[in-house]
Amino acid sequence: MITVLGSINMDLAVVTASFPEQGETVLGNEFATIPGGKGANQAIACAKLGSNVQFIGCLGRDRFGEQLVSNLQSHRVNTAGIQFVDAPTGIANILIHNNDNRIIVVPGANAKVTKQQIDEHWHMIEKSKIVIMQLEISKDVVAYAIQKCSESNIDVLLNPAPAQHFSLEWMEYVTYITPNEYECQQIFQRPYEQVVAEYPNKVIVTLGDKGACYHDGKNLVVVNGYHTEVVDTTGAGDTFNGALAHALTQNYTLTDAVYLANIAASLSVEKFGAQGGMPTFDQVQQRLNK
Ligand code: RIB
Repeated sequence: MITVLGSINMDLAVVTASFPEQGETVLGNEFATIPGGKGANQAIACAKLGSNVQFIGCLGRDRFGEQLVSNLQSHRVNTAGIQFVDAPTGIANILIHNNDNRIIVVPGANAKVTKQQIDEHWHMIEKSKIVIMQLEISKDVVAYAIQKCSESNIDVLLNPAPAQHFSLEWMEYVTYITPNEYECQQIFQRPYEQVVAEYPNKVIVTLGDKGACYHDGKNLVVVNGYHTEVVDTTGAGDTFNGALAHALTQNYTLTDAVYLANIAASLSVEKFGAQGGMPTFDQVQQRLNK
């Protein structure tokens, strides 16, 4: 069982030929309202690969909330840990241009996840092989959950996105942490090569289409990415995290798990939307066998 504790958003995605400058209006090409949120994306990435997944989070009592809970359910994610609260469902305003995106998240209901919710659903969480978290819900709640998991010897995979400062005490409690290069610099204030060496087999830095790297205690291990035609990079990091958690719970070695996660992420960028290109295990296998 994998538990995801985190955010659920409706993504308001605009494809544009150029990003507007300050004070400028530009005409966009395409608009879509599609399920997203780092937590929900990671949960669906695991579920599509075949893991049993349960979700702890909050949605608003509104149309987006209804759509997003049924989307999770349609991917066989157990939603018993989702609470409906008096706040609008979280949204993400996403501008997509030229293989790049800019995202503004308005947390809404996501900010209503509480420590009490963790306690109330602890009977579910404690059955997990790994718990995945990100930083789109309250940092206090994340801190509480990682400490509780650590006390119960439950592995934690923390995806520290969006980048935020947190107490480095957290590093004792997390099993894996997966910043990208930018987040790594923001959080640790030093080059990622130094950070991975300080935290062997724990810090895994994603390097976009170059793959990902970690330190095994002796050497820097770079696991190459798979170059492909990019349609939309939104959710690639989430696919990486979901696939990594799936592989780790299937007892892959860290190198093999990172490799599988890279392949899954490469498939995810070939389709539009955060969840649109997330692969099944068979699709990953086909690419692995190429
Ligand atoms: O990582 C991509 C996700 O970030 C989007 O789906 C958006 O909702 C934001 O949370």
